[in-house]
Amino acid sequence: MAIDLGETKSVVGRSLSDLEKHKERGTAYIGKIVMSSGERPVLGRKILMDIAKPHVILICGKRGGGKSYDIAVLLEEFARQPPTIRKRISVIAIDTVGIFWTLKFPNKEEKGELFNWDLTPDKTDARVLVPKGKLSFYKEKKIPVDGAFTIKVSELESEEWLALFGLTWKEPEGILLSRIIDEIKEKLGTLYDIPKIISVVEKDKDADKRVKEAVIGRLKVAKSWGLFEKEGTKIKDLAEPGKVTIIDVSAYRQAIGMEGTREIIVALLGKRLFEQRMLYRKEEEIKLIEGEKKTSDMPIVWMLIDEAHMFMPKDRESIALKVLLEWVRVGRQPGLSLVLATQRPNKLHPDSISQCDLFISHRMTSQPDIEAVSALRPSYMHQNFDKYYQEMPRSKGFALILDDNTENLWMVKIRPRFSWDGGVTASAFTE
Ligand SMILES: Nc1ncnc2c1ncn2[C@@H]1O[C@H](COP(=O)(O)OP(=O)(O)O)[C@@H](O)[C@H]1O
Ligand SMILES: [Mg+2]
Repeated sequence: MAIDLGETKSVVGRSLSDLEKHKERGTAYIGKIVMSSGERPVLGRKILMDIAKPHVILICGKRGGGKSYDIAVLLEEFARQPPTIRKRISVIAIDTVGIFWTLKFPNKEEKGELFNWDLTPDKTDARVLVPKGKLSFYKEKKIPVDGAFTIKVSELESEEWLALFGLTWKEPEGILLSRIIDEIKEKLGTLYDIPKIISVVEKDKDADKRVKEAVIGRLKVAKSWGLFEKEGTKIKDLAEPGKVTIIDVSAYRQAIGMEGTREIIVALLGKRLFEQRMLYRKEEEIKLIEGEKKTSDMPIVWMLIDEAHMFMPKDRESIALKVLLEWVRVGRQPGLSLVLATQRPNKLHPDSISQCDLFISHRMTSQPDIEAVSALRPSYMHQNFDKYYQEMPRSKGFALILDDNTENLWMVKIRPRFSWDGGVTASAFTE
């Protein structure tokens, strides 16, 4: 049955016992229920989504259906939590396109639509972090940036270097690079930079000259990405409690051969957050056992990934995939939540589909993609996905929500954003 908070609201993603205990605290207002058929349906109760407990949320729909918009709505809601909730949550959004910085500006364009929803345009308190060496890219594009980040060179294991350069253990370059990395780690521990690796390769006596040159060439390219440093940004500064942090990696979008950079960022971030949360989880447990309040420096973490098929592909190796699969499979215990958005569920690793407990789907038309999510079809779903998509209004922002927690299915309209939509042209800002 629907879990109701009076006549006007329902909560998805929250068990009945949690609902009784916490009411609507720690929820996100995401939209309203569709009450009638047709292109302009009557909208009913508000739909709130639990964000206080860990979830795996999959957002699907064809291009332009509203997936990135949904992520923005969620980010707005995270930023609007009361301080007691907010400081227990740390939110990171991976922005591959460079659209979420517009959260910082009020949505003047949809003022009318917001008014219909009894809402008003408002800016959102989010901070945008970009790779340090690419700051000029963002300045040129007039993207407001709050800070830069780098990755500590020693964080990369040889396996990750290989993934970054698309090398394998079978090639002489791969063999040399991993040998050098292991040697340096043993000698220097955790403090070295790329020029140091280059100099060790140069001095190497065993390797072939051509192979050395090839490896050095790659390392020089990696240096030019402006992403790696001897001392990198601390994970705590990236996943700061109470903050909504946008990691904008759009500078690496166009450039060929840089695909690996996005993956390495997500992989290392995901790996470190996982390790830290496991540690802190223990600390919290001990405090609880000793009768103290459950607090620690490292709050629960939400990572939102747009275009998730880039990071969790089903048909190729990806350094981020391994890490994210761990989040998906066992992340709930340490308090790690994932929001994955994709227009190609058919390209997504099947585990990220089967493990989601909340499924938000805009219209889909491609049969392979519909088939990919059909694996989800739970017992509380009474007809095929095709049928629901046919019934869904054509205009933007309508979605089907499957909620495993309450075993409910809803047709909803996602609410308009408070803040500017980066999906539309950014040139509108000149006024
Ligand atoms: N809930 C919504 N309400 C109003 N407009 C929406 C909504 N969702 C999407 N849109 C409109 O559709 C456009 C495309 O949405 P977007 O989220 O960028 O699509 P996707 O990420 O699925 O490709 C947005 O720029 C916005 O204008
Ligand atoms: Mg999008």
